[in-house]
Order: sequence, then C-alpha cells, then structure tokens
Amino acid sequence: MNNKPFIRYWENRIANAGNNIRAVGHKGFTNEENEIIYKAKFNILNKIFEKIKIKNKKVLDAGCGIGIFAKYYSDGGAKVYVTDASLTAIKLTKKNVPNLIRYNVSPLSKLVYKDNFFDIVHCFDVLYHITDEKTWELTLNEFSRILKKGGYLVITEFWKNNSERPKEHVKIRSELEYKKIFSDLKLKIISEYELYLFLQKNYFLTKLFPKFCLKLESLFKYPFFKRFSGAKVILIKK
Ligand SMILES: C[S@@+](CC[C@H](N)C(=O)[O-])C[C@H]1O[C@@H](n2cnc3c(N)ncnc32)[C@H](O)[C@@H]1O
Repeated sequence: MNNKPFIRYWENRIANAGNNIRAVGHKGFTNEENEIIYKAKFNILNKIFEKIKIKNKKVLDAGCGIGIFAKYYSDGGAKVYVTDASLTAIKLTKKNVPNLIRYNVSPLSKLVYKDNFFDIVHCFDVLYHITDEKTWELTLNEFSRILKKGGYLVITEFWKNNSERPKEHVKIRSELEYKKIFSDLKLKIISEYELYLFLQKNYFLTKLFPKFCLKLESLFKYPFFKRFSGAKVILIKK
C-alpha cells in the first residue's frame, strides 16, 4: 500500500501553516475560531476524564498533529506518547509538549508499541482521513492490540448512516461499519458525546458568533438536539 500521497498532504499542510492550530484544525477558520472549536472537544474530554483518571496513565495520542491533545493529557499528569506519520508534526509536538515519554514517526497501521501497553489511546480527527480500507482496519486492529484489557479508546467520527467520500483525503464511514469492526475486535462502545450543533457545522454562524456557538453546544444535554449533531466523540473500552 502506498502511503506517500497522504504523508505528503500532511507534511505540506503542517509545514505551510507552521506551529498553529489551523495546521490541523479546519482550514476555513482562523486560529482564534479553531481554538473555540477545539474548546468544544476539550469540554467533552473534561467530562469523560471526570470519571476516568488520567494522572500517571499511559496515553498514546495517535495522529497527534502539533500536539494539542498530547498537551492536554500531559497537563493532566498522564505519561504521554505520540505518533504521527508526519515528521514536521512530531517536531512541532516535541516543541509544544514538555515531558513526552516517547515520540515516533509512523503510520497508525503499524505501531511500534508492545501489546497491552496503553491505558488510553486517543485519536481525534484522523480515522476519517484514512481513505484506504485495509489501512483503516489495520489501524483499529493496532489500537486494540496496544490497549490494555480495560483500557479506553477515544475517537472522533461522524457516524452517518452511509459512507461518504466528500474529498480526496476524507472517507467518512458509517456507524454500522464501525460497530462491525468494534464487535470483531471485542471493543465495547461505552458512550457517545455529540459535537457541533451550530459550531463548525454552520460556517457563517461560527465565523460571526464563535463564542455564542460554543455556548449552544451545551444544548446537547437535551436529547431533542442530539439529532442535529455534526460529529461525535466516542468512548470505547477494550
Ligand atoms: C486533522 S489532523 C488532527 C491532529 C490532532 N489529532 C488534532 O486533533 O489536533 C490529522 C493528523 O493525523 C496524521 N495522520 C493522518 N493519517 C495518518 C496515518 N494513517 N497514520 C499516522 N498519522 C496520520 C496527520 O499527519 C495529521 O497530523
């Protein structure tokens, strides 16, 4: 399988944007707007890690980009490892995140870590960028392999009813496809958290009123609004 085109895409994108959030966030939004969009994801992680403690836990940020989430886990006292296919991404993560335990440049479909090693594997906004089917399957197999029994996988996905290929570097897989592979790998879905009610999903509203749109995300606590979700954070247990 030829990984070169996608590695080149990310290398160029991150090298051109430099050490800022737009390198890995939504290209159509400014850094400030992207920061607010990331805040919605942090809010969900805060909710998840009220119950699951991250201090001293071994966490892999898989497809770490410039290390925004690696820093979140490091600040929370976790032992943080990072992997990304882009060398530039790893160099920036090293700069942005103090106390990394280990970093390495590799595709997620072939990880260097031992079996049953991590307490948490975090993978945000990467899986739908893996357009090749076999690579996607291998990646989820790798996540399952390196997680300890009882460990957690936390991902973002869209989970639409049908698969979609909106751009060359994006393949959105259906909820059914995910449920099938999780069941094959004996991974159990623990909870799903809705993302993007107005934020990001409604481009012009987000540009005009980013802080207000972030506030509206809290409407997801009412079941009625869940149907309007633009994406999800999904917590899975091995
Ligand atoms: C949209 S960015 C997200 C970065 C980070 N997770 C975040 O949310 O800020 C996608 C990242 O995944 C990396 N990536 C994409 N496909 C990958 C693969 N198959 N193996 C390893 N890294 C990959 C890219 O190099 C890029 O840094």
